[in-house]
Order: sequence, then structure tokens, then C-alpha cells
Amino acid sequence: MLGRLNHVALAVPDLAAATAAYRDTLGAAQVSEPQALPEHGVNVVFVDVGNTKIELLEPLGEASPIAAFLEKNPSGGMHHVCYEVDDILAARDHLKASGARVLGDGNPKTGAHGKPVLFLHPKDFFGTLVELEQA
Ligand code: CO
Repeated sequence: MLGRLNHVALAVPDLAAATAAYRDTLGAAQVSEPQALPEHGVNVVFVDVGNTKIELLEPLGEASPIAAFLEKNPSGGMHHVCYEVDDILAARDHLKASGARVLGDGNPKTGAHGKPVLFLHPKDFFGTLVELEQA
């Protein structure tokens, strides 16, 4: 069921500063322009590191899902990991049958890459929020 690691998402308090750190200090060659995703409550920059991507997420708007995370982690931190799956509905049904909690209403939403995604409760996966994306 579980495919490759699609991305690791980092919540950051200052997207411009985080972008500069990845591009200039770490020397990442492929860094996107910032993109506003109001339906997800984030501004995002994608850093392509070849075998996976790093997503830098900054809160956008008052209902941003990462605002509370940044309150607890003011300097930023790892927010979630995203794994690819071939069939997101089959993956969801398998996970629910196994007792894992799917966040929200259990129906996939369109993620930052325009593909269906689901999130799994971090308490079921060792303190890490898990995103599944149908690749
Ligand atoms: Co993500």
C-alpha cells in the first residue's frame, strides 16, 4: 500500500527567511516561488531535493491549520510526512478497518499538488501527522 515519500512538510514562522535558508545557506538548487493556497490556509514553497521534496509552510489566514503548531513550536518544526499510495480510497478503507483514525470527514481533499489527499491522526503513528497522496 505505502509508496514513496512524496514530501516532508516543515511549518515555518517566516517563509521568506526559510526559503533563503534552504536556497542560499543549504544550497538547494530547485526552489519554487511562494504560492498562496487559501483553501489550505498556507503559503507554500516547494524545495525539490531530487529524491523527495521539502514543503515550507507558513500560515495564511486566521484559521490556518498550522497556526496552533507554530504556537507550540515558535521556531518551526516538522509538520507532516507524505507518502504516496496508488488507491487512496482502498488505503483509507484498509486503515479504518485497522483502527487508524482518518482526519476530517474521511473523504479525500485536493492537496497542494492537485491530487487527492488524506491525513491520519498523529497519535496512531507515533506522534507524526501522516498525509497520504494518490500519486
Ligand atoms: Co503535505
